[in-house]
Amino acid sequence: MKGILISFEGIDGSGKSTQSRKLYHWLKRKRYDVIHLREPGGSNLGESVKKTLLYSNHEIVPLSELFLFLAARSQLVKETILPSLKKGKVLIIDRFSDSTLAYQGYGRGIPKSLITRLNRVITKGISPDLTILLDERPEFALKRTKSRRDRFEKESLPFHQRVRKGYLKIALSNKKRIKTISVRADEDDTFQEIKKVVIPYLQKYTKT
Ligand code: TYD
Repeated sequence: MKGILISFEGIDGSGKSTQSRKLYHWLKRKRYDVIHLREPGGSNLGESVKKTLLYSNHEIVPLSELFLFLAARSQLVKETILPSLKKGKVLIIDRFSDSTLAYQGYGRGIPKSLITRLNRVITKGISPDLTILLDERPEFALKRTKSRRDRFEKESLPFHQRVRKGYLKIALSNKKRIKTISVRADEDDTFQEIKKVVIPYLQKYTKT
């Protein structure tokens, strides 16, 4: 596999989508062969599943939620991630397997060992080469989501606190892969921090 997979993670409102898009445009200007993906979504199936997962008015029990996220990921891995990595592209993805461990594992309480096993099967063993975890207290981050609350953004503060703690634990046990960046008040300042992590990484990658 020649390509490189960079994932962005963080709680709702942490600004991942903005920052991952900034990185995408910046790398594109630097003439990298780069694509930007997001989860859930990114495939036809994924986009339909996303609508259900985010906006269903009916109850979705935790295990159904888990399998819907995994179904979307499985499709994206097969349709886009594997072929793009084979072509040597740089893939920037807004959320990947760590989201499932953080939200369905730490947030919903599904056994983490089960999620880890399923994630491995669904991703065909693909793990991001680099993960940027944008960290912020949910009390601040959720303020940014006020106008567009989906099923997750409507969850309680303790839920988001569990997800955040989960992310920090996942980062601690994957120190090499996951770089935690504290969200700054100014999004350009946050992006400068992201660049500090990505630049040396890409230099190493393009040399090999
Ligand atoms: P999000 O990145 O917020 O999408 P958008 O910016 O388009 O609204 O992702 C949607 C939600 O899905 C988010 O609250 C986290 C949740 N999620 C999980 O619970 N598990 C997962 O495996 C993934 C990928 C996302």
